[in-house]
Amino acid sequence: MCGIVGYTGPREAYPVILKGLKRLEYRGYDSSGVAILNDHLSVYKKKGRVSELEESVVGINMHGHTGIGHTRWATHGEPSDRNAHPHYSASGNIAMIHNGIIENYTLIKKELQNKGYEFKSDTDTEVLLNFIEEIKKENNNTLEEALRIALKRVVGAYCILLIEKDNPGTILAARKGSPLVIGIGKGEHFLASDASPIIEYTKEVVYVNDYEIAIVKPDELILKNLGNEKQTPFIQKLDMELAAIEKGGYEHFMLKEIHEQPQTIFDCLRGRLIGSSATITMSGVDNNMDTFMNASRIVMVACGTSWHAGLLAEYMFEELCRIPVEVEYASEFRYRNPVINKGDVIIAISQSGETADTLVALENAKEKGAFIFGVVNAVGSSIARLSHAGAYSHAGPEIGVASTKAFTGQLAVLAMMALKIGYKKGTIDETRYKTLVRELEAIPEKVKEILADTSNIQRIAEKYKDAKDFLYLGRGYNFPVALEGALKLKEISYIHAEGYPAAEMKHGPIALVDENLPVVFVATKDRYYDKIVSNVQEIKARRGKVIAVATEGDTIIPGMADDVMYVPDADEVLAPLLSVIPMQLLSYYVGVSKGIDVDKPRNLAKSVTVE
Ligand code: M6R
Repeated sequence: MCGIVGYTGPREAYPVILKGLKRLEYRGYDSSGVAILNDHLSVYKKKGRVSELEESVVGINMHGHTGIGHTRWATHGEPSDRNAHPHYSASGNIAMIHNGIIENYTLIKKELQNKGYEFKSDTDTEVLLNFIEEIKKENNNTLEEALRIALKRVVGAYCILLIEKDNPGTILAARKGSPLVIGIGKGEHFLASDASPIIEYTKEVVYVNDYEIAIVKPDELILKNLGNEKQTPFIQKLDMELAAIEKGGYEHFMLKEIHEQPQTIFDCLRGRLIGSSATITMSGVDNNMDTFMNASRIVMVACGTSWHAGLLAEYMFEELCRIPVEVEYASEFRYRNPVINKGDVIIAISQSGETADTLVALENAKEKGAFIFGVVNAVGSSIARLSHAGAYSHAGPEIGVASTKAFTGQLAVLAMMALKIGYKKGTIDETRYKTLVRELEAIPEKVKEILADTSNIQRIAEKYKDAKDFLYLGRGYNFPVALEGALKLKEISYIHAEGYPAAEMKHGPIALVDENLPVVFVATKDRYYDKIVSNVQEIKARRGKVIAVATEGDTIIPGMADDVMYVPDADEVLAPLLSVIPMQLLSYYVGVSKGIDVDKPRNLAKSVTVE
């Protein structure tokens, strides 16, 4: 949530920052702003998208070689010019941007108000900034000293960048809980919430750790901890290409990312799964096989779509590995004082690797002795680094706010894990293991088949786009897919949608059914097929409109449904990797036909780095 960018070096800072903000806009788009340092310290900010900021500064001299920029997802204070970042300190000498939440800001604000401070915004950021400035004034501290002292009193999460009028060329940065990457160029440095604003200029980066302060000048990067001890920056090479973060001819990132799935699933399997020899190699699992085999239980911890992947993993691990699994919303798990024992394995699932609730839930579990395994997409992210071991989902940068390719990447990783562990444990026999390995290898081609012609799904989207509510139903492995379908529709079409286990609908939701309610059934051929056929009939008997995801060649479900989206046949364990694709497309086309900016739907942000 919130994207931050900084630049110091020989280039003009504004164009670098502006481009960076556009790349980070997926993290929040309530307002944006820049601060440029030359002889003066100037701040420009605007409610709305980055393009509105860009328009608002046309004709203004934006010259300067050092600057910071911010794109906001509002927490404290409504989206407005006033609450947009950067904020000036009371003296006007310092400008600051912030991603995160300062939890004890009201207390600090009171202290400052008692000293005569007045605030121009409703933000916690302006409070922290003036707190830093007050400490600087009090004992004639440098900004760096004041920052260090202030951060020791702060409760909450932050990634902050500061520039100061009397300190040309220098950006001070600090993080706790919110991400910060520093790109190292020749005589220049780039700072950002993720690597996307940086890769065009350099592939050498440093991921700043929690409780570190960075003093960044064009030709110098110093890292210190809050105890003022120097830390050695760990320089890593980015494994990412610019093309991966561009639309590549698609109208939206979401559509591009949906269509990338044959390749991203293939990339996820590549080098790990070999069908011909029925082998699965995953070093994170291989090196910890005993831990998995002896696990008393596995707890999946995640949020949103990643939580749905966790739910599917519960079905996979319980069936294939016979290990008890619990699936937890990270936000509940972190506060519930859960029972965590030494033999517990926590599998953290996250696209961004930065989701605040998941991160803190893991920190707590780690402290209590649990083994943490990360299934993460963003390489080098906080969750990846916090985990004892892990497996990347290798879906590449996901920019559309609605998660698509990251989800199928997570499922591919989790399926490989369950197969590998189950086979080693002997809870799955060789024949079934080999069948599933071969089937998994065939998934990318089957996804390609679904994506080859989307016109039928577009037609269905057009037909139902004005519905007020949708119900999504599925059984077994298809139940989490129903939940995911409903979430996708809600977030990018603003249509109310609910997912339910199909059998559960008789315990309440069936009261909603009438001729106006589209009911999406995930009804592929599996062990529950006959039961789902009955459920479809129950909906039809009440005049509900049935849209079914059915297996190619099926004649019974299509004979009953109003509309059908077909997927190729697959074993039920792996079928969600296919049946979710029509769900993604249906939501996408409904959203687009309603004129919604599906890449940046209202109120959402890609990375939820506040709790
Ligand atoms: O980055 P994460 O996977 O940890 O994010 C979790 C959720 O915030 C995310 O899946 C969210 O629900 C998406 N908008 C769903 O499309």
